[in-house]
Order: sequence, then structure tokens, then C-alpha cells
Amino acid sequence: MTLFASLNLDPARVVAPVSRRTFGSFVEHMGRCVYGGIYEPAHPAADADGFRQDVLALVREMGVSVVRYPGGNFVSGYRWEDGIGPVANRPVRRDLAWHSLETNEVGVDEFMRWAAKADVEVMYALNLGTRGVQEALDVHEYLNQPEGTALADRRGGKPYGIGMFCLGNEMDGPWQTGHKTAHEYGRLAAETARALRSAEPGLELIACGSSHSSMPTFGAWEATVLELAYDQVDAISAHAYYEPVDGDLPSFLASAVDMDHFITSVTATADSVGARLKSKKRINISFDEWNVWYLSEFQARPTPVDWAVAPRVIEDCYTVADAVVVGNLLISLLRHSDRVTAACQAQLVNVIAPIRAEPTGPAWRQTTFHPFALTSRLARGEVLDIGITSPTYDTERFGEVPVLDAVATHDPATGDLTVFAVNRHRTDPVELTVPLAAFGAGLEVVEAWTLHDPDLTATNTQLHPDRVAPRAAELALADGSARLRLPAVSWTAFRLAPVNAGAGRPGS
Ligand code: AHR
Repeated sequence: MTLFASLNLDPARVVAPVSRRTFGSFVEHMGRCVYGGIYEPAHPAADADGFRQDVLALVREMGVSVVRYPGGNFVSGYRWEDGIGPVANRPVRRDLAWHSLETNEVGVDEFMRWAAKADVEVMYALNLGTRGVQEALDVHEYLNQPEGTALADRRGGKPYGIGMFCLGNEMDGPWQTGHKTAHEYGRLAAETARALRSAEPGLELIACGSSHSSMPTFGAWEATVLELAYDQVDAISAHAYYEPVDGDLPSFLASAVDMDHFITSVTATADSVGARLKSKKRINISFDEWNVWYLSEFQARPTPVDWAVAPRVIEDCYTVADAVVVGNLLISLLRHSDRVTAACQAQLVNVIAPIRAEPTGPAWRQTTFHPFALTSRLARGEVLDIGITSPTYDTERFGEVPVLDAVATHDPATGDLTVFAVNRHRTDPVELTVPLAAFGAGLEVVEAWTLHDPDLTATNTQLHPDRVAPRAAELALADGSARLRLPAVSWTAFRLAPVNAGAGRPGS
């Protein structure tokens, strides 16, 4: 059966400018993300610094804007100073978070070199698990202080000028080394932030929020932490991973409903704390870990007994359905651009990642690479506050949800209009109508892409790296509307531009 849906778009109804920081990612010292991921000196494609250029090329193609580093759970036991100075003198340490060995061959200087090559901003996560205010100040001095102090001079080069710091990682989680109560953490976050601001007032500081919306302390954690740290921090983090629980595909396809709820709950909590404190300041959200992760499979595995360097950990192989969910999560993040000021898909290479790389072998794009790359490339200008008319379907986890989800961006400078849409229905296609009268003179189709496959479990592998990729979509412009058919379980993006606009553009 064909379903029908429509969008109501108006260029005057703006949510917020598109933030490039929405297209962030995450590199943790975990599994083969760093060693065997971004860094593999013995690889034929490695550059003089040991970085894989094939991986770097994919990171650039993906349009990643900011990368969170160095963890994750790893950071809560990390001593940053182990990773500086001559590599031969660096100690090998246990990483308790992932039960592996950290050689420290890659430290912050190497990572900053990689980030410059990848052309990404760095979001640096501090260890507030086993460490505290002094170590946060020390690493900040090493990274950002101009020459002339003990730690800045050990850096041996210009300050890195990192603008965003995470005050710890998932401190609400009992799995976290140095896990704390909300009160303990809120005090530590506030004091660390106060000290960092004395060193550099303009930093953007992110307090730890909840590790998932199903955490028992969700909501209460944010309220307590912000009551203690409201004046000192700029944003609170949110983390969320989704998977088809017990094979429940309809709920999985509606994962963005949970992300929407997560974001609106945290902003409501933050605003309520702000009101109680009589503050005019607004706390934003850094959604600095999000993705599809087959977490229950990972949790069902026994803890390794050996201590290996860069073992294979959670190298999930993503399906078509996973890519559709990832595309929908990006829609949710964009829709909330007024409050979500940064977001990081976790992680970047090999570990629950859109990019896979084999030792001395190829690197390739997972299915989830595609919606990320296209959204990053096409979302320009301003996010529009759109109306969606859609049929609904029932889900086990989220009740009745819309079949169609969408977001649109409009670039006032070029007149370009881009729509991102998802059909979450398992079996039925959706005929989507998008009236364009509000955009004045004629628009023409520049490009239209759909990610869809009759086999929802299809994946990209080393042998078949392009089995799943976006295909050109058919879009009809007639009677002042755009019309297209969205196949069941599909993600679509299309860009329209004012007629003849291409004539004046560079490269035309
Ligand atoms: O991204 C994998 C892990 O997920 C991170 O280390 C942690 O912060 C989260 O629980």
C-alpha cells in the first residue's frame, strides 16, 4: 500500500543556522580506532607520520568537522603526559576501560598533527575519573598556553588553541573508572571549569550529562550537575546508542524519536535550573556520542583475559537499516540546531565506525558513512522549522510514531533548499509532496539521492565495499511542488536551487 505524506516549508521559519559542529566524530584510544585505524606506520598508504592517507581521504570525504579525543571510557584512566616526549621513552600502560595495553605511541601531539591533516577541530576530553583540577590545568597549559611556562615549553611549538573541553566522560555510569554521584561530579566539574576559565576565559566547557536516556538517574543527574556548575559551563553532554532490541525493527527504525525526546528533556531540565537560578544564560547540548551500536552483543561477550595492544573491539558491520537510522538521527540533531551546538558520531574508524580499515589492506565506507557524508555536504545555511503531515505506525518501545521524518535547510545566500527525509515503514512506500510556493521564483533539482535496498541486512565489506551506496532518486517538480516516492525503509536527500543559479556559481 502506498502511504502519503507532505511537508510544510517556509524560509522565514528558521530554527537556527546549520552548525558545522553537528558533523563531528570521535577518536578514542580503543580497539583499532587509533592503532590500525588512523595510524598504521607499516601500511603502504601511511605518510611520514604513520597516518593512513586512505583513511584520511575518507575522513575528508565524509565532511567531519570536529573530532572528540582521546576518549570515551579510556580517558577516565588516562595520563596525558605518558603520550608526550620521545616515543621510545613512553610507558606502556593498562587500559582498564577496554582491558588492553596502551603503548602511548600516539599522544596528543601526534593526534593534533593528524587533526590538521584531516582539517578537523579537536574537542578534548579531560580525565575527571582518576584525576582532577590540577591535571586538567596541566594538559590545558600544554595544549593552549603560549610559550614561556614549563609545560608550554615542553610542547615545542605554537599553542594548539583547542576551544572545546569535555569535563570528563560519562561520569554517571557505574562502569566509568572513578564514577561519581551527581553531587560529587557537579562540584568537581564546577571547580575544574572555574580553574580552566582563570587560565583561558573563552573556552567552551562541556559538563557530563547522562550516558543514555534510560539511565536511572536521567534528568536528576542533569539537574544536580547544572545546579552546581551552571555558571561555569556552556553545555551538557548527551550520549545515545541504538540497536534493534530482540529484533524489533519497527522500534529501531524510530530511534530518532528517543533522540528527540532526549534533547527536549535535557533542554527543559537545563532551562528549569536556569530559571531557578534566575540566570539569563542558556545551556546547550553537546551530543558528543551517538550512533548505532550492537551493544547487547558486546555486553554478552566475556571480558578478555589477555592484555593485547589494539585488539579488535566492537567492529560492528552496518546494514542498510542501520544507515537509515543514522540518517534519521542526523535529521533529529539538525532539527534541534538551536540547542545542540555540537555532535559527534562515535566512533570514526573501525570501532562502531562509518570507516573500516584492515591491517596492510584497504579502507572502505560502511553503509552509515553515506547519510553522514551527504548530510554534512548538503546541509547549508539555516535549518527550517518544518511542518510534517504523515501517517503513523505502532512501535513496541515508542508507541505511535510518524512514518515519515524530515528536516530542511535553506541557504539565504544561494537560495538552495535541501530536504532530508526518512521513510520508517517496513513495507510501504511513501509518496512525499513538498509545496514550494513559499520559495518564490522557480526552483530546479540539482541532485537527489536515496539510500535503500530490498535487502535491509545488506552491508559493505572488504570484498564488496560498494554493495550499499546512495543511488540517484527521481524527483518530479510540478504544480509548484516537489514529488517523490520514498521506498520502504529508506533515507533520501535532495537539493533544489533557484533556476539558472548554477550559471553564476564557481565551477559552472
Ligand atoms: O564509544 C564507545 C564507548 O561508549 C565510549 O568509550 C563511552 O564513552 C561510551 O559508553
